[in-house]
Amino acid sequence: MPPRAKTVYRCTECGADHPKWAGRCDACGEWNTLAEEVAARAQRSAPRARGAATGATIGAVGVAAPVRLRDVRSARTARLSSGITELDFVLGGGIVPGSMVLVGGEPGIGKSTLLLQVAASLTAAGTDVLYVSGEESPLQIKLRAERLGQGDQVQLLCETSLEQILDVAGQARPAVMVIDSIQTTATEELEGAPGNVGQVRECAARLMRFAKSTGATVIVVGHVTKGGGIAGPKTLEHIVDTVLYFEGEGTGDHRILRATKNRFGSVDEIGVFHMSADGLLGVGNPSALFLGDREGRASGSAITALLEGTRPVLVEVQALAAKAGFGTPQRVATGFDGRRLALLLAVLDKRAGLSFAQLDVFLNVVGGLRMQEPAGDLAVAAALASSVYDRALPSDAVFIGEVGLGGEVRPVSQAERRLAEAAQLGFRTVYLSERARPKRTQEGMRVVGVGSLERLFQELFR
Ligand SMILES: Nc1ncnc2c1ncn2[C@@H]1O[C@H](COP(=O)(O)OP(=O)(O)O)[C@@H](O)[C@H]1O
Ligand SMILES: [Mg+2]
Repeated sequence: MPPRAKTVYRCTECGADHPKWAGRCDACGEWNTLAEEVAARAQRSAPRARGAATGATIGAVGVAAPVRLRDVRSARTARLSSGITELDFVLGGGIVPGSMVLVGGEPGIGKSTLLLQVAASLTAAGTDVLYVSGEESPLQIKLRAERLGQGDQVQLLCETSLEQILDVAGQARPAVMVIDSIQTTATEELEGAPGNVGQVRECAARLMRFAKSTGATVIVVGHVTKGGGIAGPKTLEHIVDTVLYFEGEGTGDHRILRATKNRFGSVDEIGVFHMSADGLLGVGNPSALFLGDREGRASGSAITALLEGTRPVLVEVQALAAKAGFGTPQRVATGFDGRRLALLLAVLDKRAGLSFAQLDVFLNVVGGLRMQEPAGDLAVAAALASSVYDRALPSDAVFIGEVGLGGEVRPVSQAERRLAEAAQLGFRTVYLSERARPKRTQEGMRVVGVGSLERLFQELFR
């Protein structure tokens, strides 16, 4: 008789096991994250014919031996173009054979669309792709392919059992396998519903082994929880080589693809897409997207030049400071860190004499971009001041700089590249730290060096 299945309580955040339920995970300190699970029945110590199950070809099963790097085959390490320029860019130059990529995002953001497009263009280019869906029926996927006008040659498997998937993949030997999604895939070795921590972790680990042993690239879709993380343990992100997040405003029709982890490239690059009836189209010049209408811009709007990876992108910040009702005034920031906003408000109060104590403050970064670079501080400060004074900023001006606690304006890196992008889009004045003044500037570009917020506001609102 097999031993009785043992129950463990596993943290959905960090994946730590606990013998008993508790309100708080000892390992990571999160509350209410322990979920009951049946521990694996298969004994870990028993020799497992892993290679056979996953179609592995390297070495004899169960015999470990070191290899010299020189002897490692590199014939298949050339990157594969996904056929989608923006995606290749975010991946750091294309798909790496034998790697595992996680694509996360909220439902409806366009993950399945993107991956069907990838599968379609890879198939059209003669690469074998297996598209596994546990979420949609073949008919649903066909309808999508018809809408996209591509992909009718894609090999499709609608299956949720990991063993079945690996069996089919072991025979078909695709160069790229798409799993849509990791939360609907389950192994028969573990009890528990698909999507629970143990299942997600085990499936991901087995798929990773498949990728490493066959040289196939496995792209898995992961749903995002309310907190913004991929449902299931953080360990999922630790297992895979590359984590991409697909994001965008629910109502807007553009999407941003961002790498948050990449073993084969930079994590700073973004790819920008436009969602249309024909699918996702790459946006070549993202700056235009993040700028609202230039003509007749109201007070409270300021433009900055951020560096998204190697790309300079111009972004519009909008601020609205309005008379607060009773109680604590509101502070609402979209696309900008709330604590950073609080800090800038305090600096504006203390160093530039602008009080927000009686004002509700709303801040919005146009276009659904998340502004993470401190270089955007100066534009945020300028937008806030512009709203308080109710005076529009010059429509041809760009603000670049980090704001310090003393109200000083700090220089930012690569000012020249940011200026070049601004000049290209027709901006004529740039406000930045005196110390960041570039040696060369574009013709017709006026560079105004400002040392502090006070100086900036004197310049703008005198
Ligand atoms: N006919 C259409 N025209 C434009 N956009 C569409 C159309 N049909 C679907 N979409 C877009 O595709 C999205 C669904 O994409 P999907 O790839 O299924 O998302 P996910 O897999 O991330 O849940 C919808 O939210 C919508 O924005
Ligand atoms: Mg989907």
